[in-house]
Amino acid sequence: MMDETLVKRYIVEFHERDFSGVLPRELRVTNVRGKATAIIGPRRAGKTHYLFSILNDEPQKYLYVDFENPVFHPMTAREFLAVLDAYRELYPEIQKPVVMLDEVQAVPDWERLVRYLLDTGHEVYLTGSSSKLLSAEVATHLRGRALTYILFPLSFREFLLFRGVEYRGRAFYHNYVRIKHLLGEYLEYGAYPEVALAPKEARELILKEYLNVMIKRDVLERHRIRNVYLLNELLYLSLRSYSKYVSVDSLYRLLKGRLKVTKRTIANYLTYLEEAFFLFLLRKYERSPKARVVAPRKLYLIDTGLSLFGSKDVGRDVENTVFLELMRMKSSNPRLEFYYWKSPSGHEVDFVVLEGERVRELIQVSIDLSDEKTRKREFLALLNASKELKCRNLTVITLDEEGTERVELYGMKGEIRLVPLARWLLGEGGALRNEPETQSPV
Ligand SMILES: Nc1ncnc2c1ncn2[C@@H]1O[C@H](COP(=O)(O)OP(=O)(O)O)[C@@H](O)[C@H]1O
Ligand SMILES: [Mg+2]
Repeated sequence: MMDETLVKRYIVEFHERDFSGVLPRELRVTNVRGKATAIIGPRRAGKTHYLFSILNDEPQKYLYVDFENPVFHPMTAREFLAVLDAYRELYPEIQKPVVMLDEVQAVPDWERLVRYLLDTGHEVYLTGSSSKLLSAEVATHLRGRALTYILFPLSFREFLLFRGVEYRGRAFYHNYVRIKHLLGEYLEYGAYPEVALAPKEARELILKEYLNVMIKRDVLERHRIRNVYLLNELLYLSLRSYSKYVSVDSLYRLLKGRLKVTKRTIANYLTYLEEAFFLFLLRKYERSPKARVVAPRKLYLIDTGLSLFGSKDVGRDVENTVFLELMRMKSSNPRLEFYYWKSPSGHEVDFVVLEGERVRELIQVSIDLSDEKTRKREFLALLNASKELKCRNLTVITLDEEGTERVELYGMKGEIRLVPLARWLLGEGGALRNEPETQSPV
């Protein structure tokens, strides 16, 4: 049974909160009549604050409920109706509050609740920290009645804004030294909003806590995992293997000597870690969908700060950062798909960017091209992929080098753009990548 007085107090106190410290985010959601707006993403990415930034105009119009708050946890859909009544008694003049359901996965039959609210004419926002609430699944549960957006930790643009550094136009050059320094921090400690705002000494502690809570709440408890030891092993293997290839088979070979484990369990646990947004597994580009499924994947973390607890490596931090930025672009352009590419002879390209069926761009990440052998290897892989995938839009993301190179190797030709990471990340959703280079050819 719910305590009505407690609920009313919660509502009133919430409306008296000061939201002025909430910083703006880039994510733009469109509220469509009759559809719920779902915002999902890893724990601590800023989903709750994102809701706060929406209700900032007139908090009383909103009924905000945090289902992880003990006042509302546990709660069934039916019990929620009592909360709605409590709100109406407090604000009889507002007939239809906008309803915000934070961490809605904590309500067992939340889909019914959302359908009910929509059917009775409420505008609905919901958040969740499990990718299980992702489009396909939400869509089936709600029969197409939700639009889903993913909120990631901060983009580098947001990160600079949080740190009060202007980067647009001439400011980029004016603040260049500062921006380069902050890029270093961004790679080192990652992009969780709270970490971005915290003093250096506190960052590792905050991250460690995030990692623990994410694993405990979103993996162990959610899936009632008994083999905690195995999960921890997988966790630390992931933290050491980011921006590298993994497969269930390779993990099995690593673990089977020390642990009683099946491939099935490894595959399940990986899925749980993916659902909690802890990691992503990038697929190989193959023409046949079947081959795409069986090839090894490339593992990326939700945040490069987490790799502090594995094995740090700048090159892999940069690659992971590029991957996350591509994912952010996808949340505003759902037609984008990404893969890695690898030829039978071993040439590798980090990212194949597809828009619908069309290969739009090939991206190689290489922080240092000063070594002739590295340079040739990276370029040759791009030219091979360019020929095979019929795409002439070739980019290498570097740390410092900038320009355009006309390359000819073994009878293959191409023009390759070299873009420093800072510029690539700041190019308004990557638009910079598509601008013609203003530099004179070398
Ligand atoms: N837009 C923002 N402005 C200022 N601080 C933020 C913002 N978003 C997140 N934070 C900081 O990060 C922490 C976690 O954000 P929160 O919204 O609670 O994440 P989530 O709901 O995804 O778990 C907050 O307590 C706050 O310190
Ligand atoms: Mg929250």
